[in-house]
Amino acid sequence: MGITYYEKERLFKLDTLASTYMCAVVDEENFLGHVYFGPRLEDHDAVYLTRTGEAPFVPSSNNRERLAFYDTFPMELPTHGLGDNRDDALAVRSALGHTAVKLGVVSHEIYKGKKGLKGLPATFGKEDECTTLEITMTDETLKMDVILSYTVFEKVDAITRSLKVINNSSDDIVLTRVMSACLDMDNEDFDLLTLHGSWARERHINRRPLTRGFQGLSSIKGECSHQEHPFMAIMEKGADEDRGEVFGMSFVYSGNFLASCYVNQFDSVRALMGINPEDFNWLLESGEEFIAPEVIMVHSSEGLGGMSRSFHDLIRNNLIRSPYKDRKRPILINNWEATYFDFDTDKLLGIVDQASKLGIEMLVMDDGWFGHRDFDDSSLGDWYVYEDKIKGGLKYLVDEVNKRGMKFGIWFEPEMISPDSDLYRAHPDWAIQIPGRVPGQARAQYVLDLTRPEVVDNVYGQVKAILESANIEYVKWDMNRPLSDMGSASLPPERMGEMFHRYMLGVYELQERLITDFPNLLLENCSGGGGRFDPGMLYYSPQIWCSDDTDAIERLLIQEGTALIYPLSSMGAHVSDCPNHAVGRVTPFKTRGYVALAGTFGYELDVTKIPEEDRNMIPDQVKMYHAYNDLVRMGDYYRVASYSQNNEYDCYMVVSKDRSEALVTFVQVLNRVNFHSRKIRLKGLDPAKKYFVTYVDDNKETSGKKGGERVYSGEMLMKAGLLIPRPWGDFQGMLISLKAQ
Ligand code: DGJ
Repeated sequence: MGITYYEKERLFKLDTLASTYMCAVVDEENFLGHVYFGPRLEDHDAVYLTRTGEAPFVPSSNNRERLAFYDTFPMELPTHGLGDNRDDALAVRSALGHTAVKLGVVSHEIYKGKKGLKGLPATFGKEDECTTLEITMTDETLKMDVILSYTVFEKVDAITRSLKVINNSSDDIVLTRVMSACLDMDNEDFDLLTLHGSWARERHINRRPLTRGFQGLSSIKGECSHQEHPFMAIMEKGADEDRGEVFGMSFVYSGNFLASCYVNQFDSVRALMGINPEDFNWLLESGEEFIAPEVIMVHSSEGLGGMSRSFHDLIRNNLIRSPYKDRKRPILINNWEATYFDFDTDKLLGIVDQASKLGIEMLVMDDGWFGHRDFDDSSLGDWYVYEDKIKGGLKYLVDEVNKRGMKFGIWFEPEMISPDSDLYRAHPDWAIQIPGRVPGQARAQYVLDLTRPEVVDNVYGQVKAILESANIEYVKWDMNRPLSDMGSASLPPERMGEMFHRYMLGVYELQERLITDFPNLLLENCSGGGGRFDPGMLYYSPQIWCSDDTDAIERLLIQEGTALIYPLSSMGAHVSDCPNHAVGRVTPFKTRGYVALAGTFGYELDVTKIPEEDRNMIPDQVKMYHAYNDLVRMGDYYRVASYSQNNEYDCYMVVSKDRSEALVTFVQVLNRVNFHSRKIRLKGLDPAKKYFVTYVDDNKETSGKKGGERVYSGEMLMKAGLLIPRPWGDFQGMLISLKAQ
């Protein structure tokens, strides 16, 4: 049982394999206080940690030092307006215009398994995997209930948390702030680690000391964004990849978010995560309820690496639903960087003719096949085939691709509308806009108002018709601009503040309908590269395009940051042509292959035009993918060395769950002259096992060794290290396979 209630102490103890989380009901007013989150404890005598015995911070029923109490007590769900000045999780505007909320616990329920969150993505688990605690609290003045839910994934070291607000009064209430998670802790000289980026430079790791006052990150773009990421880790100063305590928080949501930390006068930290309160006002009519998305919390005593592996396991097993999650994905070739908008049936079939012979398994026809789209300035919303380009029609093309032994996938951008489109000419009010203002375009397009059911129905109907018209087995769902000019022709003024969240609910509904009607479809999300790579979208698609930057060296940092939270099986990664289209860098084809092998693997180039020597390497890369993808998809991931820190080389590895097999990827970014081979300490192996070490390419130039030549113990490889010869040249990659004897 992962959750125990101790009646005498009125304490809830939530246990995973290696961590414990505790909260308790305190005082006759039944405040819910945060007690502990950290390494697993067997003991539960911990209520003293709330410091309610320390004057003047006692919850004083005579009201004498009430404000001092509110401003110091570690609240599990801090509320607004009564004296807790550390930032709060819940605020309202009542019928009388008041903003305060006060919650007291009234009951709780513990049950096996986990319920879904209506309309929202969420982790799931069977009765033998997880246990849920629901604590009901009430505000007697507002007549408002809050149900705070925690689910403990006992074998994964992860706890999720979400909340539901119910208006039981006869008046309307406006919710102005609903944060899903709060973590009140003493500041033990922590660092804050977040993921920061830009278009084509997504999710770079950013670590800084946590200092007094407010700090944090947010998005107000209607998507989690290229710039910020709905994740933060609070970590001990000395914590590194393998050691030290780390508290990771990840938001299962794809829209506006806020993740903040406040270090107060007593050096306590309050970490909050939830929907961004900016531009959020939710009218909760009498009898209605509001469900806030969930946050995944992971505690690790094994540094960032331990945290990542817990997130990976949870996301792989308990968030991704697609039937593909446990399957090797078809090796695809996408025509975007190959042709951009300049393609037709013949050109695509020319690519397929070559690709099918090389072992590539699926063609993905990217942007430009619909309406009259020859450039990025038209036709979004007109999801019918551009017959001038797709000569013979879509079914003909798909059949021809299938005849050549390959599957077929297609690109959509269903959330958008071009001013130059039949859809816009028929329904200009379907574009998000504010009456009287000219809405801003980005990439010459507007965003469809997905808060309107008729818009959702229309766009879904169009997508469905295309998917039913031919044997289409994959969809790339793109989204190429942020939201702005928030105005909906259908929402009344008092509900306009709901628009960002309602938009997200519309997107989730669209994708839910898609995967329900087409259960075997392989869906890949995308947003101008990786602008919407988040746990929310992984509930619908097992993979997400990581970045429009396909350069192998840039990808080291992007994939490192992404894999901090997300399993490698979810990272869309392709081999592209050089000079790279994002940075102009020329890297060896081999290195590009090795780096893409850490993701879903595919190609993003015109296979008829690349140098012959590159093309000739594809069958070997295909073989490698088939040989190692099970391990990469399902194994434990270890960061060994980061080029972001040493400026010279990058190294990571994946180890099978039974530790019988491992794959090491090493990339020398910059060579240096007159140095020894590098000694790299491997991780995650079984110290007692002996491993055959094989340099996969068996290439003397890069490895200097013959495959399978050496056998070393796991102990030696982890404590003393493996010698990796210095390859000749910059940007050189190496793949090293380890198999237990
Ligand atoms: C952005 C995506 O990230 C690219 O891969 C490509 O699909 C383009 N959009 C097409 O417009």
